[in-house]
Amino acid sequence: MNPKRVGGVLATAAFWALLIGFGVLLPAWMQISWTLLLLPVALASLYGAWVFSPFVPTPMAEVERLVEHLELGPGSTYYELGVGEGRLLVAIAERTGARCVGIEISPALWAIAKLRVWWAGVDASIRLGDLRQADLSGADAVYFWGSAHGIERSLIASVPAHCVVISRDYPVPGCAPIAVDTAGPVSLHIYRGPG
Ligand SMILES: C[S@@+](CC[C@H](N)C(=O)[O-])C[C@H]1O[C@@H](n2cnc3c(N)ncnc32)[C@H](O)[C@@H]1O
Repeated sequence: MNPKRVGGVLATAAFWALLIGFGVLLPAWMQISWTLLLLPVALASLYGAWVFSPFVPTPMAEVERLVEHLELGPGSTYYELGVGEGRLLVAIAERTGARCVGIEISPALWAIAKLRVWWAGVDASIRLGDLRQADLSGADAVYFWGSAHGIERSLIASVPAHCVVISRDYPVPGCAPIAVDTAGPVSLHIYRGPG
């Protein structure tokens, strides 16, 4: 079993347990509503973390290293598949001036990412949906956590030839990387589109 996946699921569980636990600070009559409100979101989030990939954010110290490889600038388009709470996407938008698109399956993380983008005022859109259905024909760079989606290879086949695709932590089976950067806590497996 993948230790990062298990760690991510445990961290997700700890986060929601803490948040629900804060209910004890509320007046007694509110505690039940607090629990009933958060419990379904917590369970959906845990299910998502287990079935898809857990929310394991890229450390912000990695932004510069990522930006170096993404080859982005004003006028280009960056896709982050599984954008989480959007912190990384906003940092990339601010540094590169690229138009950014984030896709996220968890409604809670999607809502936070949308708020973050709005607050930062960057040129970005955050879509609620499944990354496996993403249309990447307009992408100049794509970043994702290369876990067990099983679509990594077809994903690389679907981007334009010039597009840079970075898979975090995992190589894409059957595809030859143009580079692998292991200089930091996350390893970056870097590919180009077909042709
Ligand atoms: C490892 S986190 C990465 C978050 C962010 N991109 C970063 O690097 O900091 C993976 C994210 O992908 C989301 N996710 C997992 N499966 C997904 C799917 N099929 N479609 C869209 N998002 C998905 C998870 O909810 C989680 O927020």
